[in-house]
Amino acid sequence: MNLMPTPATRSDVAYLDFVEGFREYLLGTGANFESRLDAALQAAGVRELDDICRFVHEQPLGQLRDRLARTQQEMKWHALQRSFDEQRTVLRAELEAWDMRGPGRLQLDPSFVYPPYVNVHFHLQPGGYFKDELSGFLYHYGTKVFFRGGNDRDELHGKLVSMVPRPADGEVARVLDMACSVGQSATAFKRRYPKAEVIGIDYSAPMLRVAHRRAAMLGEDVTFRQALIEQTGYPDAHFDVTFAFIVFHELPLRIIHETVREAARVTRPGGLFAVFDFTPTADKTPFQRYHRWFDARHNGEPYSQDFCDCRFEEILAANGFSVAATPLDQRSGGAGYMTHWFATRD
Ligand SMILES: C[S@@+](CC[C@H](N)C(=O)[O-])C[C@H]1O[C@@H](n2cnc3c(N)ncnc32)[C@H](O)[C@@H]1O
Repeated sequence: MNLMPTPATRSDVAYLDFVEGFREYLLGTGANFESRLDAALQAAGVRELDDICRFVHEQPLGQLRDRLARTQQEMKWHALQRSFDEQRTVLRAELEAWDMRGPGRLQLDPSFVYPPYVNVHFHLQPGGYFKDELSGFLYHYGTKVFFRGGNDRDELHGKLVSMVPRPADGEVARVLDMACSVGQSATAFKRRYPKAEVIGIDYSAPMLRVAHRRAAMLGEDVTFRQALIEQTGYPDAHFDVTFAFIVFHELPLRIIHETVREAARVTRPGGLFAVFDFTPTADKTPFQRYHRWFDARHNGEPYSQDFCDCRFEEILAANGFSVAATPLDQRSGGAGYMTHWFATRD
């Protein structure tokens, strides 16, 4: 079953496969930019962010790495946008055909107002997450390239969902996936807990339509609803497990606080709030700190620095969670880039 739309031509597929391989070369051991630059930074004893940036910018290796990091993103989005544009009528009809089909439900809000802070082309995706009716398809294929073959069949989402501990009393009747995008974690939760009600929320209607289509194609009964994660509209203590994968770094600091407060409100006492996101600044190597600076300015991640600096554990604790955090070796950029927080509601 093809859960992801195919690019328009075989040559588009080949081009995007090349970009995926190029990305693997840049980020993996091929070009080895990261370990070479990290070694140079450590040897020079550079510690402060301003000095780290100056140092990297003076190195030909750093200049080359930055140019190629930006270029591979531009190559990917340019090719995807053109290729899906060519198929716009067919893909639009495809979404319309699945909107009303089950299992599962798609709940879009015709009066939904997108808040101003979401007007960002996150990781350079054209139109951001919601302005193009095909944003969900673009995002899904874009993340296929991003994860360099490690998530073509939702392997990463399946692995992360399997890592989330059950609440201590074992009860899992309701699960909330906050900012579910195309619903890969939500369907993984449904497979893990077939009797539970699983709900994915997101502000982006195009993402939710793809999430619904994917889940229905998989035969999974999941509800996808248009809502803000900082203002979900669910009753107090409604969920046994609340989950958020790589969304907090895309929120302004004020919304980070509001979202944790909301998660604390809707997660029942003894329930679990599981967050996977970028590693805090204090735990980063010098090059990882540089990478965050670069990503914030040149890869459409304007809020990410604030998240990494924000002492997320303290925000969780201040809102009534007991928390454990562990670094995670994940394929989205190598060891140490991701951390997870498994927080139990007091
Ligand atoms: C990087 S993606 C998150 C990845 C997603 N959890 C996954 O597994 O693919 C960011 C998603 O969060 C959604 N989002 C960001 N801020 C949100 C908010 N305040 N409320 C609801 N959805 C939000 C975006 O629309 C987008 O689909």
